[in-house]
Amino acid sequence: MADDTRFETRALHVGQAPDESTGATVVPVYQTTTYTQQGIGNHRGFEYSRGANPTREALEQALASLEGGRFGLTYASGMAAIHGVMTLLRTGDHVVVCDDLYGGSYRLFTTVMPGFGVKFSFVDATRPEQIEKAIQSNTKMLWMESPTNPMLRLIDLAACGDIAKRHGLQLVVDNTFATPYLQNPLDLGAHIVVHSTTKYIGGHSDVIGGAVVVDDEQIGDQLRTSRNTTGGIPGPWDAWLTLRGIKTLAVRMREHCANATRVAEFLADRREVSRVHFPGLPTHPGHALAERQMRGFGGVVTIDLAGGADAAHALCGATEHFALTEGLGGVESQIGYPWLMSHGASPAEEKRSKGITEGTVRLSVGIEHPADLCADLARALESGGS
Ligand SMILES: Cc1ncc(COP(=O)(O)O)c(C=O)c1O
Repeated sequence: MADDTRFETRALHVGQAPDESTGATVVPVYQTTTYTQQGIGNHRGFEYSRGANPTREALEQALASLEGGRFGLTYASGMAAIHGVMTLLRTGDHVVVCDDLYGGSYRLFTTVMPGFGVKFSFVDATRPEQIEKAIQSNTKMLWMESPTNPMLRLIDLAACGDIAKRHGLQLVVDNTFATPYLQNPLDLGAHIVVHSTTKYIGGHSDVIGGAVVVDDEQIGDQLRTSRNTTGGIPGPWDAWLTLRGIKTLAVRMREHCANATRVAEFLADRREVSRVHFPGLPTHPGHALAERQMRGFGGVVTIDLAGGADAAHALCGATEHFALTEGLGGVESQIGYPWLMSHGASPAEEKRSKGITEGTVRLSVGIEHPADLCADLARALESGGS
């Protein structure tokens, strides 16, 4: 495919040529664990599906192309992908991490990985000088999320890329919230991009998955070997569903971004809402950086309610179109309560230091009609969410 082929076209065609043996236009679900060999060692590149599977490979090629890397690897979940990247580290290594990150990543970095002798420093990465200050002689990796979950803070990824380069570190970016449609960390100096494909990439709240994209062949080989050894692969059906999701990623993201902007502007005018966190609002501290670093502002809007915990509980229980879930990134709108849900695993003081309060509510704005979404929120706020 020509190098200048655009995102929408690559999403539909990279890795997805008609099936060679049948002409099937859509990549088939290769529901097979193993592959018959013509003779010992004489096979067509596929031996056993933990190592490689054609449906999964189609997805990995498409993902790699969308992120601008040469190698894509998919995993059973976003957390399996994150753990896969952790296998690049060794006992005694140190990682500098942004302090506002997904609760599951926080749990992995604070409860599982320290048992293997890997240490983590959590810093306010919206200030690049804090990252640099935390670097030690044994630091091997910088781990960033931008926009962050759930406070939607912006981290200057190009500045992180510069720091990583100067100190010889690997920069990892969890790009789940932005998706490759809005942001490509590899172009900004990252070495490894991570996704929970469960979110926007799958896009329909029906498949758990994760992915890693790299451009460096050696890192790609290391990850492939560790994944084949530890076995955290997605099954062919899950890979197929995720690949189907990718085909509409661009059109969905355009709708998510437009609807989230409408919802954020609507909520900014409501007396029940003390603060709206959305990078698309000019009042957001990361707005200028988001304009520079991203091609849109994403589909998540986080709000602080003036009425605190009671108001948040009332709102979460009163919406009709926003389903109360742990998830985000699906076509249907979702509402979540980070204090007890996505970030329930983080200690209270940790959450407060990130700005998450008992009155914080996260909205994943779907692709329903934006007027219906605003009307739903108005009704729910008026029914006791104040
Ligand atoms: C930013 C981010 N990274 C990683 C994950 C973990 O992904 P999964 O739930 O697919 O394991 C999540 C899940 O919410 C997330 O929001």
